[in-house]
This record gives sequence, C-alpha cells and structure tokens, in this order.
Amino acid sequence: MVSREITKGISWVGALDFDRRIFDELIPLPDGTSYNSYLVRGSEKTALIDTVDPTKEEDLILNLIKLGLDRIDYVVINHAEQDHSGALPMLLEMCPQVKVVTNEKCRDLLVAMLQIPPESVQVIRDGETLSLGDKTLRFFMTPWTHWPETQITYLQEDRILFPCDLFGFHMASSELYVTDEAAAYRSAKRYYAEIMMPFRNSIKGYVEKVRGLDPAMIAPSHGPIHRNPKFILDAYADWVSDSVKNEVVIPYVSMHGSTQKMVEHLTGALIERGINVKPFNLTHTDIGELALALVDTATIVVATPTVLFGPHPQIINATYLANLLKPKVRFASVIGSFGWGGKSAETIVKMLDHIKVEVLEPVVIKGMPDEAAIVALNRLADDILKKHKEINIA
Ligand code: FEO
Repeated sequence: MVSREITKGISWVGALDFDRRIFDELIPLPDGTSYNSYLVRGSEKTALIDTVDPTKEEDLILNLIKLGLDRIDYVVINHAEQDHSGALPMLLEMCPQVKVVTNEKCRDLLVAMLQIPPESVQVIRDGETLSLGDKTLRFFMTPWTHWPETQITYLQEDRILFPCDLFGFHMASSELYVTDEAAAYRSAKRYYAEIMMPFRNSIKGYVEKVRGLDPAMIAPSHGPIHRNPKFILDAYADWVSDSVKNEVVIPYVSMHGSTQKMVEHLTGALIERGINVKPFNLTHTDIGELALALVDTATIVVATPTVLFGPHPQIINATYLANLLKPKVRFASVIGSFGWGGKSAETIVKMLDHIKVEVLEPVVIKGMPDEAAIVALNRLADDILKKHKEINIA
C-alpha cells in the first residue's frame, strides 16, 4: 500500500491490483487494474472521494492511517458499484461520524447492496456544492456512465475532475499519471468498449460538459490520472461520434476447416478491395480485444459452423455480447458452413436486435467452399465495398 500526493491537500489513497485478471467474471484484465480513491483535505473538512474494492479495503485504511488523519468528514460516492463503494461498510464502522455524500439513486443502491444505513447518507442534487473550507466540491449527475446513479465530482479551486469510471481504464501502474499516451489510448478504448459503449449517446453530452469545465486534471477511478485532459476528451469524442472506419470485424469459429477457409477467402477479398479486416478466432480470442475492435468498425461479419441445428455456442456468446455492447456498426452479415441443415444465419441476425444494422446477404454453404461459394464470398466483399462507399469511408 502507498499513498501519493497529487497537489497540496489532495492525495491518491487507493489500491493497485496487479494480480486481478478478470472483472465481473467476464472481462479479461491483461494489465490488472487499480481502484482509485482520493483524499481531499480542505481548511475545515476532509473528504474521501470513492473507496476501493472490498478485497483491497485494508490498503485504503492503511493509506489513511499512514497519512495521520484524525477524522474524515465525508465520503463522496460517485458510483455504487462495489469496486468503488465496497470499502464503505468498513469505513463507516471505523468512522461512524462520516457522512456519505451521494445522490438519491446511489443511496438506494448502497442501502440495497451494502446495507448502508440510509441516515448516514447526505443526498445531493445536480450542480450542488459541498464546502470543505478553502476547497469546494461540485457534483454533476451523469446517469448511465455506466449505471443509472453515476455522478461526477469537480474540485473547483484545483480544477480536478473525479469522474469515477468515465475516462478510466483497467491498468495497475506504479505511475500516478498517464505518461505513455499510446498505451493509455488502447487501454482506455478497450475500457470504453467494455463498459461505456452501450451508453454512447448519453456520454456524447458529458464529454462536452466536461470540456466546458476546463479541468486541469481528470482523475478517474481506474488507471493513472490524466494530466492532459484534452487527450482523453478528444479520444472519447471520436469514439462516441457517429463516424465509422472502413473496416470489417470477423468473429469466427471453425470446427473442421470449412468456415476457416471462407474467412480466409473473405479476408483476402476485402483486403484486395482496400478494406481493413480484423478476424478473431473465438477459440482463443480475448473478448476485450473483440469489443475494442467493435468501437468504430463499419461492418461485422459473423462466421460460424453449424452445431446440430444452429450457430456454434461460442459464436452465440460473442454475438450476444456484441449486441449488448451496441457498437455503432452499420452493416452485418453471416458466413459459414453446415453439414446437413440448420438456420445459423437467421439465428445470428435475430440476435443483433439492439444494433441498427443493414444486413448484407449471408453466405451459408454446405460442406467445404466450392467455386460457387468463392463467387458468393466475392459478391459479399463487393457488397461491403459498395456500402462503405455509400457512406464515404472507402
Ligand atoms: Fe469501476 Fe462501474 O465500476
């Protein structure tokens, strides 16, 4: 455990989790993660902004003890999810005088999930401020980043924004600040894909709202702090925009090689037409990489063999997730092979009901691809090129 001073009166007191490899029992974490908690000491009052995952609550408590704190007056909870609120029960046990500062929806979730006594919560509303003496916290409601109760907190005098999950990324690093923007960009885009992408339309407005605050720093709840807010705000503005790339993402599984051959042919045909292609073999794909690729691709082609009467279960899993994540993909199709029957294409297309895509005619064949299949795959590549030209990306 270690605390780091950001500027006078403001310290990072969170926890680094280098070992964590999965989140929500779903999302791989190749670089671990951190749970950032920030201590803000004003001339009259002291506030902690967000806590840490319950597995790391001792780190937080020891960081606070090492700083020689004699009291905490407020714990601001920007988001009820347990990786940020989970140490709250222990904090309240140790410091019963603490007021939990959050919005009404978040209070209700904290009561339900952590059995926090409702009377320990001071409810705040959009735009309200909380004075710590010479430092002032202002709260803005930002629902659906990525839960309904999410809010952000702005430290006005120091111009530091604490947006919790928004603008964060899963990375455990000994560096307090982002130094390698290329690495941060990739991690933050992956995080956006996994967590924020379904709420793209809400987030559009928040990006501009935060720009308007003109923060000097953005201190999220995961990963290093942004000392160059423009970097992450520009990246978000691009990801949430309606623009897509001249690119095709192909998640696939092949059991006996037929679907693999179809993927390989289509990949080559698309490259010949000047289209970028990202095939993902789902038998060994990190699902976070697939999500990342979906952020701004124009087209998805799902490639599946037929298991009994439908798509391969790993394809079902990836298609279900892609549909939940609601990428801004514009076109979709299905390719694959069957032995004796099945309705793979219809099943996949029906599963994409959250994504407003135009479906391009699938290519589903019996057995190994023959000349007719090659002609059909070339036709699909032509269809994709035509569509990409129509939206001026090819
Ligand atoms: Fe990092 Fe939504 O919790």
